[in-house]
Amino acid sequence: MCGIVGYIGQNDTKEILLNGLEKLEYRGYDSAGIATLNAEGLHLFKVKGRIAALRDKVDQSVHANMGIGHTRWATHGEPSEDNAHPHQSASGRFTLVHNGVIENYYELRDAYLADVKLTSETDTEIVVQLIEVLYQDTDDVLAAFSKAISLLKGSYAIALIDAQDTDVIYVAKNKSPLLVGLGDGFNLVASDAMATLKETDTYLEIEDKEIVVVKRDHVHIQKLDGTVVTRQPYVAEIDAADTEKGTYDYFMLKEIDEQPFVMRKIIQEYQDEHGQIKVDADIRHAMLAADRIYIIAAGTSYNAGLVGKQIIEELVQTPVEVHIASEFSYNMPLLSEKPLFIFISQSGETADSRAVLVQTKLKDYPSITITNVPGSTLSREADYTLHLHAGPEIAVASTKAYTAQIAVLTILAVDTARAKGLELDFDPLQELAIVASVMESLTDQKEYYAQLAKEYFTDTRNAFFIGRSVDYYVVQEASLKLKEISYIQAEGFAGGELKHGTIALIEEGTPVIAISTQENVNYSIRGNVQEVAARGAKTCIVSLQGLEQDSDTVVLPHVHPLLTPLVSVVPMQLLAYYAALHRGCDVDKPRNLAKSVTVE
Ligand code: F6R
Repeated sequence: MCGIVGYIGQNDTKEILLNGLEKLEYRGYDSAGIATLNAEGLHLFKVKGRIAALRDKVDQSVHANMGIGHTRWATHGEPSEDNAHPHQSASGRFTLVHNGVIENYYELRDAYLADVKLTSETDTEIVVQLIEVLYQDTDDVLAAFSKAISLLKGSYAIALIDAQDTDVIYVAKNKSPLLVGLGDGFNLVASDAMATLKETDTYLEIEDKEIVVVKRDHVHIQKLDGTVVTRQPYVAEIDAADTEKGTYDYFMLKEIDEQPFVMRKIIQEYQDEHGQIKVDADIRHAMLAADRIYIIAAGTSYNAGLVGKQIIEELVQTPVEVHIASEFSYNMPLLSEKPLFIFISQSGETADSRAVLVQTKLKDYPSITITNVPGSTLSREADYTLHLHAGPEIAVASTKAYTAQIAVLTILAVDTARAKGLELDFDPLQELAIVASVMESLTDQKEYYAQLAKEYFTDTRNAFFIGRSVDYYVVQEASLKLKEISYIQAEGFAGGELKHGTIALIEEGTPVIAISTQENVNYSIRGNVQEVAARGAKTCIVSLQGLEQDSDTVVLPHVHPLLTPLVSVVPMQLLAYYAALHRGCDVDKPRNLAKSVTVE
């Protein structure tokens, strides 16, 4: 979704802002802009479309050493140059970028801006106009900024510059992520550390409703009531090199290929010096104390949660419910007496999941966040964090985070089961090492999957994925992967459920991909494949060694039956990738989607 980058220092700011915005492209956007400020005044450049177009538009002869930039994912108002950020106040004195949604913008407009002519359809413009109106009362920019922040309802990350002051960027946030990056003689503002890793690895967290004054050599944080806040910086764990594509055409393929390394990294990170699983004792106690576990997540993370439920229930014998975050927060089920909430989120910033965390915290329910971004909002606000160690995931379509989430949930389940004294004939570290090798053998067969994708998905308008038991959970992820990047209408179904309605959609040549990795449903899913084949479907079976039949299209090497999702998903990811490629889609940046969904 929207991205913010700001810089104040000694160097020319255009390139720093443009590079930063390019690093945020992966989040999804439809317009972009930068504003730079020097002694001659403010220089504003905005475009509808890509950063490349913005780069062409920026006047290279203008030099300034402070400025703010933005990528916008349209919420209020269509993608257009007028609606693109930065937005300016009526006099042009104040210029602002904003992520999030201002919920009370009509009220603010009616109460404060009756005489102001608005030039965009955005909620953001209301904020910058409001600051100018409040400034007229106080003659003090910091006071006007603080007052405006105190009036806002909703989610926001905001950076403001004043055309009459080249020494400061004003910053505040609520619910939306925003960091201050620290440098020697310069400082930065970013909605995502990824935007500024080239300049610094040291960051200051900002908490909701703090007012932050960012200067070249100093950062001042205060609360809305003026109380000064001191905070220690932290060093981001991301390596700038991890954010480059290297020899790959697309991040998605790079990230699919990284999965074996991620499995090995997880084995290493969750292992003690005796080769035993290592999980924080407080997390173990929280797991043991729970009479029911509630997994909350969205999209691919939700799909990983479904697999996690299967693994936890089988190993730990504690009931688990998996909920879509956006539903749970408005339609909370009856909870058990001692619930434990596990939030699964690659980004750690998903607004829907955070809305649930806010509610559960009010009730003092314990919470664990499983995330790829340890300093993220969900990580900071939950009681405990389990880190995925997957490295930055940049392609919008999640791949390595999904398998990392399942691997970490497995380790958590085994640790709890052992602490409960349950007998297990399962060494997760050893089994995950086998998974890593199998993943490697699958990613080595790219040409085969490219060919299969051509055969099954080049012309089709829809596709179905079927599975039973845990394979049903994997086909839900398979269909999400295919539809989000290739725009083929795809659905994942429980094999037995097809004939209760959906089979009506099967026509001559409709692709139906079945996964069969579980012995107890091997025959029944094959029966379901026969049913659709008899009605003209073009079928494909992905099975597991030991359960295969001669006609199967893919036979996965053997892994532990509990961990088959970690390997059966890899061909699905590759099929989706090549389907999108063959159909000429922008694999890493599918239309309408954002990587980090920070609005509800
Ligand atoms: C799909 C995808 C999304 C995310 C979802 C939740 O490939 O990436 O469905 O899984 O938006 O995001 P996180 O995991 O960051 O909470």
